[in-house]
Amino acid sequence: MAGKKSSVFFCQNCGYESAKWMGQCPGCKEWNTFVEEALNRAEVKSIKASADVKPSKLSEIAMTDEARATTGLKELDRVLGGGVVKGSMVLVGGDPGIGKSTLLLQVCQNICKKGFFVLYISGEESLQQIKLRAERIGTFDDHLSLLCETNLTLIKGVIEKTKPDMVIIDSIQTMFDEEISSAPGSVTQVRASTSVLMQIAKGSAITVFVVGHVTKEGVVAGPRVLEHMVDTVLYFEGDRHASYRVLRSVKNRFGSTNEIGVFEMRETGLFEVENPSQYMLEGKPKDASGSVVACSMEGSRPLLLEVQALVSRTSFGNPRRTANGVDYNRVNLLMAVLEKRVGLHMGDYDAYVNIAGGIKMNEPAVDLAVIMALYSSYKEKPIDEGTVCFGEVGLSGEVRSVSMPLVRVQEAKKLGFSTIILPKVCLKTVGKVEGVKLIGVENIREAVDVL
Ligand code: TYD
Ligand code: MG
Repeated sequence: MAGKKSSVFFCQNCGYESAKWMGQCPGCKEWNTFVEEALNRAEVKSIKASADVKPSKLSEIAMTDEARATTGLKELDRVLGGGVVKGSMVLVGGDPGIGKSTLLLQVCQNICKKGFFVLYISGEESLQQIKLRAERIGTFDDHLSLLCETNLTLIKGVIEKTKPDMVIIDSIQTMFDEEISSAPGSVTQVRASTSVLMQIAKGSAITVFVVGHVTKEGVVAGPRVLEHMVDTVLYFEGDRHASYRVLRSVKNRFGSTNEIGVFEMRETGLFEVENPSQYMLEGKPKDASGSVVACSMEGSRPLLLEVQALVSRTSFGNPRRTANGVDYNRVNLLMAVLEKRVGLHMGDYDAYVNIAGGIKMNEPAVDLAVIMALYSSYKEKPIDEGTVCFGEVGLSGEVRSVSMPLVRVQEAKKLGFSTIILPKVCLKTVGKVEGVKLIGVENIREAVDVL
């Protein structure tokens, strides 16, 4: 019996369901993302309240050590929480062309070398195209099998027959389930395909990596729709024109979510960047005003990066403000604090703030660096090259403490910085560090006076 047929509208960005079309999604506030899809309500069979369903006590549950396999890429292992867990489902999201297929093909290469069988299923590229990419990356052994297919029923059959240890699906938006009438890439299809794959992963203890494209136009459903279904969600980001890439985990059932992995895209695939701080500071201008180095924590790792600001007189109309890599509203707030507490007349000035390298920072510890860069550009006074600063700035201009100050100081020292401006309260935790001058500040007034 066919289920009751009707249609509903889904937001292709976040999966919000609505009976009628709406201009703006109430869920994610995106505009024009609703698409009508046929509704496939599964037939509800009446289940007898049977006796074999029984809850367990915590003490009765046997613990098995989750088996983890290293992917051969240290940066990826760290983001996953120490390797990939057998039977888990990992979603790798990111803009088209960022390097998701390349990353996963390299994972295949490493896993196969250890004697595991991997099945790479592509719905986007032909076998020849995959081979071309594989040739750039290096040599592969015969533990890797490739398949170009988008029909899930057929894919399921192949997986059951070949019993691989790992399956890669590139990408989830191209897969479709015949029983569902909506187009591939729609919310209904993407959800149905994911749940089929999830059953395969959990049922046969096969590790599944799924690629999901991030889409802005709302034509196909983005990875947000299935974030809650999978075990781990990783986002691959970076500036397409720059060569480095940052891998971030936003959800992880088997590890922490604030670790990042840094890679560099070269002619022959992705390479791990062991010292990201050094990498981020390459090309920092000397003796230029409006540039200062900040130290931010990414999970357990400190990362030094250059904060740049350009403040110039507004030529007409309203002042322009832009923020790249830091939150726009945060920059506006910091400018207001600077105006009120230090007395700079920011109202007549345009201001552009940028984190060099295109990386996104949302830790409040970069506040002090933003303030210093703005001030330095306004006064056209360069900040000494050997200076690093970090600290959160409050509304009354006070500089507040941040986590792990000692780790930050040590990272700055390792890279040859000699002066560190930090919140005064952090001085106690840090103590004395040989070879670096620590300047503790209580408010931004004191900080800008250091200049
Ligand atoms: P790709 O993995 O196809 O991206 P995605 O699957 O996320 O869409 O990689 C795309 C870009 O990477 C492409 O523009 C070419 C570049 N690239 C390199 O620079 N070096 C390489 O070794 C490879 C394989 C790709
Ligand atoms: Mg791809």
